[in-house]
Amino acid sequence: MNVLLLGSGGREHALAIALHKSPLLNRLFAAPGNPGIEKLAELVQLPLEDHQAVVAFCRTQAIDLVVIGPEAPLVDGLADTLVSARIAVFGPSEDAALLEGSKAFAKKICADFGIPTAAYAQFRDADQAKTYARKKGAPIVVKADGLAAGKGVIVAETLAEAEAAIDAMFSGQFGSAGATVLLEEKLIGEEVSFFALCDGRKAVALASARDHKRVGDGDTGPNTGGMGAFSPVPGMDAAMGERVMAEIVRPLIAGMTELGRPYVGVLFAGLMITAQGPKVIEFNVRFGDPEAQAILPRLDQDLLLLLKLSAEGNLPSAPLYLSDRSTVTITLAAKGYPDAPQTGSEIRGLGAAEAMAGVTVTHAGTRREGKKLVASGGRVLNVTGIGATLGEARKRAYAAVDKIDWPEGFCRRDIGAVVRK
Ligand code: AMP
Ligand code: GLY
Repeated sequence: MNVLLLGSGGREHALAIALHKSPLLNRLFAAPGNPGIEKLAELVQLPLEDHQAVVAFCRTQAIDLVVIGPEAPLVDGLADTLVSARIAVFGPSEDAALLEGSKAFAKKICADFGIPTAAYAQFRDADQAKTYARKKGAPIVVKADGLAAGKGVIVAETLAEAEAAIDAMFSGQFGSAGATVLLEEKLIGEEVSFFALCDGRKAVALASARDHKRVGDGDTGPNTGGMGAFSPVPGMDAAMGERVMAEIVRPLIAGMTELGRPYVGVLFAGLMITAQGPKVIEFNVRFGDPEAQAILPRLDQDLLLLLKLSAEGNLPSAPLYLSDRSTVTITLAAKGYPDAPQTGSEIRGLGAAEAMAGVTVTHAGTRREGKKLVASGGRVLNVTGIGATLGEARKRAYAAVDKIDWPEGFCRRDIGAVVRK
């Protein structure tokens, strides 16, 4: 098969590594890709917002499957254009991607199909939102409805904080994403990212992971795109996985089909495991980043085949085969991240890290400058260790991190260290 992978981050590098292993693969193209993906795929520059340009490329190169990594092209309807052109695509339609594109839509689906989630109300007016917040009291969670690059959620511990967040959102801080604001009950429990593959009718559980969203050790400092992850999550055993499938994923997939929005792709359910059981925090319509870097090395099956079967509506209902080994993924970020990452510094020593047994390095924000590899984004590299236990995976990952010579970068030192439960 000829495959076109869209995206440029660590998630897409992890996807490229897994796709590259498939005996079904003929040529792998990546647009735009990155210097890590370049070793596995032919990089192409394609304007992803120009859907017809993507279709034309697929026709010229006889692409059999397009794999869409990030949410933006999905919410923008790229999968629909490809399907209309009879090009197979792994990723949901625009109508189904609204699960991530609109938090109000996701909450309504949960209400309509009896899926457990935080109690909420939605507003288009700051005064009404504040009246509701005062009635409910703090803590309360304030969310912008639309895509806000992971920044549109404030878990307010005081009413003053909630009111400030409401004002900021209605004042256009997140553009049109904040035209509707949701106020939610704060859920208490352990957070888990849960992934299932879906083919439009059926869903099969893939894996669980835990992200580490705050920038600093001990979950301190501002939120980020994700400073590290591990998989599986202790406590997310087969019984809890089945409960998530029965109470959340299967009712959602059936509901989406009933609404004429069949869901194809990977469903990423952000969950809180509360005293009453799993509840939805949010849905995403793509793999998590850095969760993908942690879960894909545990997949002992042909990813390309699974993605192809998902796109064709033929996913087998048998459980997927996942290694019982653990992984720990550490994000290396440029100093100053998330507010003002300093880019352009040189990274050395990657070869020594990559050569270690049970270690994979993925590129998230790098570029080549002649022979040098330099940081070009906030999150720059991910280092994944795999091992028989979480502790072993963690040791491997940090030993590899310590081989990387990049004084201008930093990482959290406690990924996978404090595992509650
Ligand atoms: P989201 O962008 O919806 O994933 O929210 C970002 C983060 O805010 C989540 O990962 C949670 O840690 C937190 N969060 C969002 N909604 C809630 C909620 N209802 N209760 C507690 N924490 C929440
Ligand atoms: N790591 C969280 C996300 O990908 O949204």
